Amino acid sequence: MKVTQSEIVISAVQPRQYPADALPEIALAGRSNVGKSSLINRMIHRKNLARTSSKPGKTQTINFYRINNVLMFADMPGYGFAKVSKAIRAEWGRMAETYFTKRETLKGIIQVIDLRHPPSKDDIAIYQWFKEHGLEVLIAATKADKVKRGQWPKHLKQVKEGLGIVPTDRMVLFSSQTGQGKDELWSEIGRLTQP
Ligand code: GTP
Ligand code: MG
Repeated sequence: MKVTQSEIVISAVQPRQYPADALPEIALAGRSNVGKSSLINRMIHRKNLARTSSKPGKTQTINFYRINNVLMFADMPGYGFAKVSKAIRAEWGRMAETYFTKRETLKGIIQVIDLRHPPSKDDIAIYQWFKEHGLEVLIAATKADKVKRGQWPKHLKQVKEGLGIVPTDRMVLFSSQTGQGKDELWSEIGRLTQP
């Protein structure tokens, strides 16, 4: 998709704040600091529309971005951020669970995983939870620029096997730094959002 228009719609905490547009929606899920917001920016070629940070925990609300008036991205706060209190973790869980189980326009989830490392316990648990709830997941294995090209297959296998990806879920190698995987990701998003 050629993105000509992108804008933030709202930073939401409560379902009543979710945008009322009936646009097909793709949510970004992943650990804190894995690169969810950077992935959105790369996809829409905006430097900092989705705010990013080298400090984990930057995104604390569900941020909705409207793209070309045909698609919505929902940028979720990261999970597995060790420094937050138990209460905030519980709050995150409630906010995410409400969103993922109630959002009618949700067409699929891009679960962003760091290509460099085996998936964490949280990555695995959350992937399993998506599957149990019948949600479509697309894995974006990001920060590919940090792994030598020759090592990509080994790392992709590590992610695939670590998560136990079901055969119908696709995986895309991605880098927000280089733009690697952008076209492929757009075509997978197209597949998920087809009526
Ligand atoms: P939270 O909002 O805290 O959950 O983080 P996030 O998942 O949105 O991560 P964010 O996009 O803010 O990126 C975190 C850090 O990783 C930033 O310093 C980014 O510049 C860096 N980063 C993200 N993607 C890539 C990538 O593909 N390659 C490299 N080298 N760095 C990346
Ligand atoms: Mg973020």
